[in-house]
Amino acid sequence: MTTNSELRSRQWFGATGRAGMGHRSWMRSQGFTPEVFDGRPVIGIATTWSELAPCNVHLHRVAESVKRGVWQSGGFPLEFPAMALGETLLRPTAMLYRNLLAMEAEELMRANPLDGVVLLSGCDKTTPGLLMAAASVDLPAVMVTGGPMLNGKYQGTDVGSGTAVWRFEEELVAGRMTQEECAFAEGCMARSNGHCMTMGTASTMASMAEALGMQLPYSATWPAVDARRYETAQRAGQVVVDLVRQDLRPSAIMTRAAFENAIRVNAAIGGSTNAVIHLLAIAGRLGVPLTLDDFDVLARDVPTLVNLQPSGKYLMEDFCYAGGLPAVIRELDEDGLLHSGAITVTGSGIGANVADAPCWNREVIQTVADPFQPAGTGTAVLRGNLAPDGAVIKQSASSPHLLKHRGRALVFDSPTDYYAVSNDPELDVDEDTVLVIRYCGPRGYPGMPEVSNVALPKKLLLRGVRDMVRICDGRMSGTAYGTVVLHVAPEAAAGGPLALVQTGDWITLDVPGRTLSLEVSDEELAARRAQWQPPAPHASRGWTRLYTEHVLQADTGVDLDFLVGASGHEVPRDSH
Ligand code: FES
Repeated sequence: MTTNSELRSRQWFGATGRAGMGHRSWMRSQGFTPEVFDGRPVIGIATTWSELAPCNVHLHRVAESVKRGVWQSGGFPLEFPAMALGETLLRPTAMLYRNLLAMEAEELMRANPLDGVVLLSGCDKTTPGLLMAAASVDLPAVMVTGGPMLNGKYQGTDVGSGTAVWRFEEELVAGRMTQEECAFAEGCMARSNGHCMTMGTASTMASMAEALGMQLPYSATWPAVDARRYETAQRAGQVVVDLVRQDLRPSAIMTRAAFENAIRVNAAIGGSTNAVIHLLAIAGRLGVPLTLDDFDVLARDVPTLVNLQPSGKYLMEDFCYAGGLPAVIRELDEDGLLHSGAITVTGSGIGANVADAPCWNREVIQTVADPFQPAGTGTAVLRGNLAPDGAVIKQSASSPHLLKHRGRALVFDSPTDYYAVSNDPELDVDEDTVLVIRYCGPRGYPGMPEVSNVALPKKLLLRGVRDMVRICDGRMSGTAYGTVVLHVAPEAAAGGPLALVQTGDWITLDVPGRTLSLEVSDEELAARRAQWQPPAPHASRGWTRLYTEHVLQADTGVDLDFLVGASGHEVPRDSH
C-alpha cells in the first residue's frame, strides 16, 4: 500500500516555501479549492483528442466520465493533451509518429506531479503509443479506449469501415459502382463517433489492451456512443486511484504471461498484423522477452472464434451485443489456452474477470470446439532468403489457394510506381504473378505505411481475379484483406534481400512450411548487392531525420533504438 505521504505528487504540492507556493498557486488559477492539495492521489488523464483525429474526437467526453470516477474515489484528476494521431489524414503515415507520441506522453507523465494516469486512445497508433509511454514511466495506469463506431449501413447492408473502402475501390475500377454511389457510401460508413468498427488495428489494439490487463473488461467492445462506455470510463477513474494506493504498476501487469495471453487473444479474434509490431514495441519498453516467432508458436493452436470483418462477416457492434471480448477470453480460458491468473487493473486475474461472461450469439463468437476458422489460420511468421529476419502473413484474410504459390516477380520501388501502370491493359501480369512493392519499410517510406495491399491490376480485376500474392516491407491496414506478405525484414532501404529482387525472378511462398524464397543463387545475389546503392536520406533535419537514423526493423517492433527500455518516474531536480 502507498500512503498519501509517499505519493510522488507530494514532492510538488506538499512542498513548503517558494517552490510549493508556485506549484499550488498557479493550479488554483483554475478555481480548485485548496483541499485538492491535501495529499490525495493526483491522476493525469492523457487524452489524444483532436478534430484532426476523428476516431478520437469524443475523448473529451470520455475524460469527463473518468474525472467523475477519480473524484468519487478521492483523487484529483487533471486532463492533459497527448499527440493525437489520426490514421486517415496524417502523411506520410501515422506510424511515423507513434514513437513521437510515446516519447511525448512518457516525458509529460514523468515531468508532472502525477501519481497515476488514465490513457485515452482510439485510432490505431494512439493505443500502442500511450501503452509504450506508460510502460517506460511505470506509474499506475489504466487505459480507456474510445470504442468503435456503430455499424456502417449502405443500401440495406452492413458495411465495415476500411474493409468496405477496399471493396468499393475494386468495384469502381471494375465498373460495377459509380463515383456518385461511392460518394454516397462515404457518409454511410462513418455515421457515429468512434474508431473503425471492423476488426482493424484500432479494435485489435483495444482488445490487446484488455487482454494485457490494462483496461477494464468490455472496454474494447462497447460502441463509442454506448452509455456503458461512459460507465466503464467512470469506473476506470475509480480503479486508477485504487491502483495508486496498491502501487500496482504496468510492469506488474504487462508480464510475459500477459503478452502470451494477448497473442492468443489476437489469434482468436482474427486481429490485425499490426498487433505484432505494437506488442513487440510495448514489450521492449518493459524488458519482457518477446520475439517475432512467439506470434507463430503461440497462435498455432488457437482457432479464430470471432466472425468479424475483414476475416469474416460481422462488425464490432455485433461483437459487443454477442458478449464482447470477455466471452472470447472466457472461451480460451476454459480450454486452457490462457494464463488465467495474469493480474489485471481490476486487481484480479484475467480468468476471474470473465468467469461468468455470457455469449449471446454463437454465430458471431464461436467456440474452440466449433470455431469460425480452425487453429493455425492466424498470423504466420515466414523466413527464407527473401526475409532473413522474418515476415508475416495474415492467413485468415488470405485466399487458401494462394498460401502455397510459385510465381514470377513483378517489381516496383514504390506504390506510386505501381499505380502509374496498374491500369495499363498491356501490363505484363497474370494471376500467378507475385507483385513486389518495396522501399515501404520504417526507413524506406519513411514510417512503414499501410500500403502493402496494393489494388490488383485493372486487367485482372476485369477478368474477375480478386486476389494475388503481394510481398512488401510495409504494413497493411487491419481492415484490409488479401494474400499479402508483410513486414519483410530487413527492409529494402536497409539493404535487405528484397532490394535485390528483379522482375522475372521466381519466388516461392509456402505458408504451411513458413518459408519465403527467392530462387536466385547466392552468387547472383552477391553480384546484385555489389551494384546496390542505398536510397538518399528523406530529411536533413527534424523528426524524420531522427526517426530514420534510429528506427529499428519490423521484427523488433519499429521503436527507436534509444527509446527501448524504461526510465521510470523519478525526476530528481526541481524547476526553480
Ligand atoms: Fe482511426 Fe480506423 S481510421 S481507427
